[in-house]
This record gives sequence, structure tokens and C-alpha cells, in this order.
Amino acid sequence: MPLEVESLAELAEAYVGRRPQEILSWALEEFSPDLGISFSGAEDVVLVDMAAKLGGEVRVFSLDTGRLHPETLRFIERVREHYEIPIEIYYPRPEAVEKLVREKGLFSFYRDGHQECCGIRKVEPLRRALEPLRAWVTGQRRDQSPQTRAEVPVIQADAAFSSAERELVKINPLARWTSRQVWAYIRENSVPFNPLHERGFISIGCEPCTRPTLPGQHEREGRWWWEDATHKECGLHAGNLRDG
Ligand code: ADX
Ligand code: SF4
Repeated sequence: MPLEVESLAELAEAYVGRRPQEILSWALEEFSPDLGISFSGAEDVVLVDMAAKLGGEVRVFSLDTGRLHPETLRFIERVREHYEIPIEIYYPRPEAVEKLVREKGLFSFYRDGHQECCGIRKVEPLRRALEPLRAWVTGQRRDQSPQTRAEVPVIQADAAFSSAERELVKINPLARWTSRQVWAYIRENSVPFNPLHERGFISIGCEPCTRPTLPGQHEREGRWWWEDATHKECGLHAGNLRDG
């Protein structure tokens, strides 16, 4: 039985003050095995750690855009080995990437924005990753972007990726955690982390579109820094954009 949108809003209310582990536990009970954690290779590794400790069947997938840092790829592999779990990797369609690069070169996003490249390298593969699932778990947090994520609910209907045949539920267990809480969890639980975090990177995405941040800068300033802060969503979380 698909959950009704209203009941999802009620559930989000009920779970908003709960610990991320409780939210994950609810998700496992409700959707396993048709549940996937979308793992970016950054500090969202805490979700993988929590899920491993809770037990139960959950899929973990990453979107390899072809432009990730080598450190991120190695880290994803390290996580696979550390937790002894399969991590499904989705790649963009080669024809689409080849066409984009042939027509616009390798760095078109600096000139005409990141949407087209993200559409090909992230959003289309995500669509395929989500196909077999009834719900997905993301590491989105409210403090990651005051402009676009301040109201991210812990549980929501995924308007962007649901279809007439299937309502997809999106679960953001870390929505109310701060970066400080995430990092306290990583340290206290000896969770492996991406070595780029030791080199000034707070938020980590694709190599050409991510840079370290200076003291006092917000983490989102290290992503797509040439673009307006209110548009810094790549399409994975397009629902966060008010005009998107
Ligand atoms: S993004 O949309 O701006 O790139 P961000 O890097 O903040 O997203 O990450 C938020 C969440 O989106 C991650 O915790 C993860 O759930 C998902 N995500 C982002 N990038 C990827 C990726 N390459 N593969 C899988 N999931 C991802
Ligand atoms: Fe392309 Fe940059 Fe988006 Fe990665 S983040 S898919 S390189 S525009």
C-alpha cells in the first residue's frame, strides 16, 4: 500500500525530533528491501554506518559522474570493504556524455551553468538507480544550505522522481543534524571518512565543481562557486528549489 502524501507529512511531523537512527529504523521496517541509501562518498557515510549497525536489508548506491575526485572513488571502495557491503555504482549514459563534450567541451558548466551536465551525469543515472526502489535515503541536512535546504523534512514524498505508477518516498534522517553532530558521530564511532575533508573540503561533489572553503565561509560556497546560492541544487534534490 503506498503511503498517502498527508500521512507522510504527519510522519515527518512525528519523526522530526527523533534521532537519525530511529528514522532509518522506521524506513527499514517500512520499505526494506526496496530501500536505497544514496551515498555521495562524503560525510553521508554516517548513514551507511548507522544502517550497518541497525542490520536489515538496504541497498547502497553511488552515482559516479566520471568527474569525481580519485580520493572519493577510493573512499567509496574503502567503505565497501570496511562494511563488507555491495555498493551499486551508476554511470551516465556514454552517448549523452560524448554528445555534450563533443558539442560544448569538458567544462561547459563554467560558461552556461551546471544543470545540463548534472542532468546527464547525475540526474539520469539517479533515475535508473531509483527505478527498483520504493524509498531512498539521502544525507541532506538543513544546515548544508540556508538558501535551499533550510526546510528539508525528515520524510517526504519525492515529487521530482515519483511517477503515476509509483510514489517514491525520500527520507532525510540527518535533516536536523548539524555538521558538528555529523563529525562528532564520525569521530566517536571511528567511521572512515574521505581524506579530502582533511584538506579543507567540507562539502564534496565533482572535482571541477568543488573547492575547499576558507575559514568563515559557508560549506556551500565551495560548490558551483560561480553560480547564485539560491540555485545550487543539481537536480538530485530539485524539489528544494522554490522556482524549480
Ligand atoms: S548535491 O545535490 O549538491 O550534489 P550534496 O553533495 O549536498 O548533493 O549531497 C546531499 C546528498 O545527495 C548526499 O548525502 C547523497 O545522499 C546525495 N548525493 C549527492 N551526490 C551523490 C552521488 N554522487 N551519489 C549518490 N548520492 C549522492
Ligand atoms: Fe557536471 Fe559539475 Fe554537475 Fe559534476 S557537479 S555533473 S561536473 S556540472
